[in-house]
Amino acid sequence: MKSPQQLCFDDARSFFEEWQRHPESSPLDSSSILKRLQEIEMEIQATGSYTHRFEELVFGARLAWKNSNRCIGRHLWRSLEVRDHRTLHQHPNREAQIIQALQTHLKDAFRGGKIRSVVSIFAPRIPNQPDEVRMANHQLIRYAGFEAPSGITGDPHSVKQTQHFENVGWSPTNRGHFTPLPWQFYFKELPSQPHDFFASHPELLHEVSISHPTCEAIESLGLKWYALPVLADMALKIGGVVYPFAPFNGFYMGTEIGARNFGDENRYNLLPAIAACFDLDRSSDRSLWKDQALVELNRAILHSFDQAGITIGDHHNLGAQFEAFCVHESNQNREIHGDWTWLNPPLSASQTPQFHRDYDNTVCSHTNFFYQPPIWKKLQLHRASSGCPFHL
Ligand code: ARG
Repeated sequence: MKSPQQLCFDDARSFFEEWQRHPESSPLDSSSILKRLQEIEMEIQATGSYTHRFEELVFGARLAWKNSNRCIGRHLWRSLEVRDHRTLHQHPNREAQIIQALQTHLKDAFRGGKIRSVVSIFAPRIPNQPDEVRMANHQLIRYAGFEAPSGITGDPHSVKQTQHFENVGWSPTNRGHFTPLPWQFYFKELPSQPHDFFASHPELLHEVSISHPTCEAIESLGLKWYALPVLADMALKIGGVVYPFAPFNGFYMGTEIGARNFGDENRYNLLPAIAACFDLDRSSDRSLWKDQALVELNRAILHSFDQAGITIGDHHNLGAQFEAFCVHESNQNREIHGDWTWLNPPLSASQTPQFHRDYDNTVCSHTNFFYQPPIWKKLQLHRASSGCPFHL
């Protein structure tokens, strides 16, 4: 069995090998890489990990995006902007500093509607030590889901997390369908108070009201969605070093909202309401009212973002761009791996190139974005087993 140190070093070496396969972005020649790897080996032996140079962090985060098999927007990987906040937790006023950094992330990523991809990287994981900083949130902007005997108000996906926030002292100002969740940080895996950030910064929510190009009734449903998806609970791994808190954003593809968030029966389940606006025949599924409503809802999402001047992709343009990217990489003798089940859109899949292709779904393990157990659930487990969130 290999030691954790050996595994970390193997990952570092694989990372540099991969970097060399991208000569246009590799500043180091083979002998400087060998030297750097020796340095890394010594640091791993002494400390169990190693510290990335800034340019390694930048290329590493971009490569992690490129290696994300499920993402259809990866052709933009080189444009990812990297913010280095690896030491911010050491600041005496760490929470305020981190909130400030996230606020800047939201502003810079939104860029007046011309969304750009940004990742903010915080403290790395040190083996056998609690993580310096994590967040309970799944995304920086997400709507609460309030469960009551009469049903769920808001996003059903957030019900458990909303209960958690209320258990730890969040009292929402309203309990609507689109109530933003508070932020909560964990320092060394210990929770701090939830912070109702958007109550004081509504201007950073950047919500889009949903209307339809021809059907006025859609607007009166009072639907909206936020412009910026910022994933905050995934771990970023670069050459064997894990960054457990590295929130990143891209821009939306319309179907994420129009087909899944709004269309799924276990989410906002809006197809019946949309069908009613168009007076569709719902007496049988064979009238294809669901399919028709799904298309109209997706037209509404794209139309509304366009009207608001906010970047959004559609499955046709992103599908074509991703295909061109795969062809380009393959011409460079770099095969793009992918997850067919995710690269295909939940609407009209066979009209995109992805449907007609196979993808090798082997996951690159040295440099990637990974799911990790949510920090707030981890502590719930501790509490259930010992009665105290602070002691095992
Ligand atoms: N599907 C998720 C959502 O609807 C967002 C995942 C990331 N999406 C993206 N376009 N970067 O909120």
